[in-house]
Amino acid sequence: MNVHRFANGDTMPMLGLGTWKSAPGDVYTAVKEAVRIGYRHIDCAAIYGNEHEVGRALMECFHEGLVKREDLWITSKLWNDKHATEDVVPALQQTLTDLHLDYLDLYLVHWPVAIKKGLVFPKSGQDMASLDEIPLSATWKGMENAVQQKLCRHIGVSNFGIRKLLDLCAITRIKPEVNQVELHPYLPQRELVETCEAQGVHVTAYSPLGSPDRPAGLKRADAPVLLDDPIIASVARAKGITPAQVLLAWALARNTSVIPKSVNPERMKVNLEAAKIELTDEDLLHVAAIDRQERYVAARMWTMPGSPYTEADVWA
Ligand code: A2P
Repeated sequence: MNVHRFANGDTMPMLGLGTWKSAPGDVYTAVKEAVRIGYRHIDCAAIYGNEHEVGRALMECFHEGLVKREDLWITSKLWNDKHATEDVVPALQQTLTDLHLDYLDLYLVHWPVAIKKGLVFPKSGQDMASLDEIPLSATWKGMENAVQQKLCRHIGVSNFGIRKLLDLCAITRIKPEVNQVELHPYLPQRELVETCEAQGVHVTAYSPLGSPDRPAGLKRADAPVLLDDPIIASVARAKGITPAQVLLAWALARNTSVIPKSVNPERMKVNLEAAKIELTDEDLLHVAAIDRQERYVAARMWTMPGSPYTEADVWA
């Protein structure tokens, strides 16, 4: 499988397993099956509420000799109520306990928004904390401390727009090495991807299949279904592959890593096989025509009345 090579020589497999929305019960079996069939990159987050189960699966994989720790790439993410400098390392330690690991390969700041400590999900705008109260530079100091303490090998961000990424790159001691954002043919975010590349920040594509199982609060009745797109279907038919494979091969063709979520063994296998598929320039031209600026994971959950954030601020 193709890998992204970091400055220190570490390599991250370009296709990994997503675990957002993987229900407790399902995610244990999914991670074990994924490792068994050859996935070597698992994307996690504290807020997914399933890291203890992912951890149980990983521990068993190691004990059964399926794989060694150093052969896996494990990412997790800092939740929004732990943005104060001193809260970062304890949050990461909790994730490590849940995952039964002594280090992460990559730790990301999950969102460029802060929630008041201990609140997990905001019920009203007053539950949010502004970036003046808890600046991202303070959060980043905590992330750098985590690297110094060898709790993670690489640090990065998620859901960062161009302005926030450039501001952060300008002040850091340890640069963010990854920005994980929503990317698919309906939301290619070309300028953001180019800016990251110019800054030496690798990009990971989340919700690459259009996240059809996203929570009800993120669903709009008239939202187009990416996996049902007729152009994607016609490219898939012509190549004898599935629409999901077109979407994953598209992400890889852009040199972005990609983390499709599945808990279904057959679909996990199909998705992994996409790492071997190459799209032609003509295929890519067809796919480029379907950009709709359709963001499936909107920032509405952070912008309720009274919140210091607007949707535009979050993505800036
Ligand atoms: P399941 O977990 O039952 O396989 P995303 O990664 O964009 O968030 O998308 C995840 C959603 O896409 C889940 O509902 C997942 O269902 C579904 N999915 C995953 N792989 C495929 C595939 N190869 N074909 C169709 N749907 C898929």
